[in-house]
Amino acid sequence: MPLVSPKEMFKGAYTGGYAIGAFNVNNMEIIQGIIEAGTEEKSPLILQVSAGARKYAGQGYIIKLMEAALQDTDLPVVLHLDHGQNFEICKKVIDAGFTSVMIDGSHLPFDENIAVTKKVVEYAHPKGIWVEAELGRLAGVEDDVHSDEHIYTDPDEAVEFVEKTGCDSLAIAIGTSHGAYKFSGKPKLDFDRLEKISSLMPDYPIVLHGASSVVQEYVQMANQYGGNIGGAKGVPEDLLRKAASMAVCKINIDTDIRLAMTAMIRKFLAENPEAFDPRGYLGEARKAVKDMVCHKIKNVLGSSGKA
Ligand code: G3H
Ligand code: 13P
Ligand code: ZN
Repeated sequence: MPLVSPKEMFKGAYTGGYAIGAFNVNNMEIIQGIIEAGTEEKSPLILQVSAGARKYAGQGYIIKLMEAALQDTDLPVVLHLDHGQNFEICKKVIDAGFTSVMIDGSHLPFDENIAVTKKVVEYAHPKGIWVEAELGRLAGVEDDVHSDEHIYTDPDEAVEFVEKTGCDSLAIAIGTSHGAYKFSGKPKLDFDRLEKISSLMPDYPIVLHGASSVVQEYVQMANQYGGNIGGAKGVPEDLLRKAASMAVCKINIDTDIRLAMTAMIRKFLAENPEAFDPRGYLGEARKAVKDMVCHKIKNVLGSSGKA
């Protein structure tokens, strides 16, 4: 089955009160683990590629791995660019076969964010490619840059932004952040703001970045076997389920996959000190990715059986 657009997925997710998981991919084991989970759960999937992933694996490798992963399945899968920094990167991946791109102008002044998003939309839409944009700013770590400050998305600006750019979905800031340290106090999302935005833009798909839950079982496992990941805290699953039942149609997850892989590799190597065949620990890592994605599909996204 060839790669698909997220259009039909988001329609189903919006009306059905669930969300599609967008999982970051960097290598073969991650892609295989995610596809195995989606196949088992019969869930639509978005696999997304960051600038860091393009640099690490090489765009050509990712595309060929995706082709291989999809050759024997009819699972609907989107290949999406995560946090595209400029028009040129978006154009490159569209030309290479991605079916969806994010242009992230959230760090730019409002008018400049509009201008670059509009330019990407004008290139993407005639080719049938979906465009996600971002308005507002998440705190946390992104491409090794740390920002302490959340700038929550203004609902009226969101309407103006979507009208002027024609973007297909919008990532908003309502309290989530990237990485493993999301909250120092009680976790909280601004659901009133989400409600306001969706009431002004009915049927419009909203995207939540920084939506890992930082599953404590894996944090503890990593620490037990030599890690030092102290005080890590994510978005509680009940808050994510609530967002998925509202206008949020795409939930981005990277940190939870990283944590699960690392914890399982640490455990395997600690328990098998004589092991040095990479297939041993990478096989465990792949299984950890699959289990994590199955857990998300069943307990957070609600997308089982929607493929
Ligand atoms: O939002 C960022 C994603 O977690 C990707 O992270 O830039 O380190 O690949 P990365
Ligand atoms: P997490 O760091 O919470 O997994 O967020 C990932 C993300 O938003 C990728 O764009
Ligand atoms: Zn993100």
